[in-house]
Order: sequence, then C-alpha cells, then structure tokens
Amino acid sequence: MKPIRYLGVLGEDYARLFLCDDGHPYVVKFYRVKHYRKREVVNEYVAGRLATKLHLPVSTIQIVNIPQELLSTIPRVKGSRLQGTVHLALRFIEGALPYKEVEREVSNRIITNRCQLADLIAFDLWIANMDRSRSNLLIHLKDRDRLSFHMIDHGKCFPGDYLWNESTLIEPPKYRFDMPIYKWALNQITRDELTRSIQKICSLHDTDIVEILNEIPDEWEVSEKERHALFSYLKMNRGHLPEIVESFLSFHTYDET
Ligand SMILES: Nc1ncnc2c1ncn2[C@@H]1O[C@H](COP(=O)(O)OP(=O)(O)O)[C@@H](O)[C@H]1O
Ligand SMILES: [Mg+2]
Repeated sequence: MKPIRYLGVLGEDYARLFLCDDGHPYVVKFYRVKHYRKREVVNEYVAGRLATKLHLPVSTIQIVNIPQELLSTIPRVKGSRLQGTVHLALRFIEGALPYKEVEREVSNRIITNRCQLADLIAFDLWIANMDRSRSNLLIHLKDRDRLSFHMIDHGKCFPGDYLWNESTLIEPPKYRFDMPIYKWALNQITRDELTRSIQKICSLHDTDIVEILNEIPDEWEVSEKERHALFSYLKMNRGHLPEIVESFLSFHTYDET
C-alpha cells in the first residue's frame, strides 16, 4: 500500500491526508517533522500496534514509503521538515469527529463499543499516554441513539514522550488522570471491567510485544538498546497497573455504589 495523492491538512499541526493506492484515504504522520518530535511516529506506531493486538478501536496502521516527488507537493508549515521517505499511515475513519466537536450530543446515546472504555483507560495508563484530549478521541454518531468511539493520536506516550530514551524510560511515568475523556469514560464502566482490562494487557504475549518493537523501521533511529528499554518499560508498567488504576480511581473519587 502506498500514498499516491496529497489531499490536505488535518487538525492543527502536521497530520496530512493522502489518498492511497488501495482507494482509501489515510492520515499520514511524518518522521521527525519537528526536531524535538523524535519519537512521535515511533510512539504512534508502537501504541497503535499494541492497541490493535488488544482489539481496541484504532485505525489500521501501515508503514509507508513516500517518494520525494510526492513529498515535495505538500505545502510545508514554517519550521517543519520532511525527513526521509519512511512515514506512518493510519486509515482515515469516515464520519468520525473529535469528541470536543460533538460533546453536546454524546450524552443519552448508547455507546455501541462501551465495553472497550475500560480497555481505553487501562491502555492509556499502561503506555502513560499524555494526550487523551477531547481532540484525540473520535466519535462516530451512528444515528439519533447510538455512537461509537475511536482512539487516535498516540504520539505522546511512554516516559519522555517525544524524546524518550533509555534513561527517561526508567523514570516514574507521569500520568494525565485529569483528562475530561477519562471522567466521561469512568461514568460508563465498572471496577470489574477495569480489572479485566488489566488482565487482558497482562496476558499479551512477550513475543507479540517484541515483534512490534522489531518492526520499527531502522529509518526511525531506535537502537537495539532503546528497543529493549521500551520492552522493559512495557513489561514493568503492566505489572504496576493494579496500583496505577487504584490511584486513578482515587483521583476521580470513583465510587461504584
Ligand atoms: N484516523 C483518523 N480518522 C479520521 N480523522 C482523523 C484520524 N486521525 C486524525 N484525524 C483528524 O485529524 C486531527 C489531527 O490528527 P492527530 O492524530 O490528532 O494529530 P495531531 O494532533 O498530532 O495533529 C484529529 O484531531 C482528527 O480530527
Ligand atoms: Mg491530536
């Protein structure tokens, strides 16, 4: 699969829409589009692939090669750069809008994938996602009564986020318990569901995680040692999920009764 035509800007930063040769539109994120965003596509790729393994509602992810001739057709944002030809494409979800744009229409609707909300919380805590803002959860209003949610934008996760390295990955992760999306999600779920979500994450096979880390393209400059450090973080932090979830629930003064 490869991008064949530039279609336009998405959001407020550097995500761009392309038509690909399978006939579908894809959101493209560029490797190191700003110097300081060194790990953005790495994080997006690793988190997206892990989420896919957990059957979370994320778009299909593909590593794509974009030839220089096509890259040169993209209007450049001042101060940004397009480095290399290996980038990341995520299938565009037709008809889904950021939560913040439909906020007033979400209450009183049936969430058709409600059972995945606990998984979203546990997953974000596992990867220490810093950016589950109301722009980074898409809502598909299916009809007058129903909606589904879709997770996007995992560029800012893992301790150190855009600039993680072997040292930052062993620092205590920071969490954004306060994101309004979590308050909304927490209102719809039970403690038991969260426990089951932790179990799901803990039952992912190490070999599946290693496979994902090994598939990070060399062009994205993650050394063997760094891949190993990320593996260790993922192993260690999923073991801590029961305590992290407890802190999260206390922060939200969650009381099921
Ligand atoms: N898979 C997708 N399907 C539909 N729209 C998307 C998708 N991914 C991103 N968007 C839209 O593009 C915007 C920017 O994408 P995002 O991944 O959040 O990048 P960033 O915030 O880093 O610019 C989102 O807020 C959303 O409106
Ligand atoms: Mg975003």
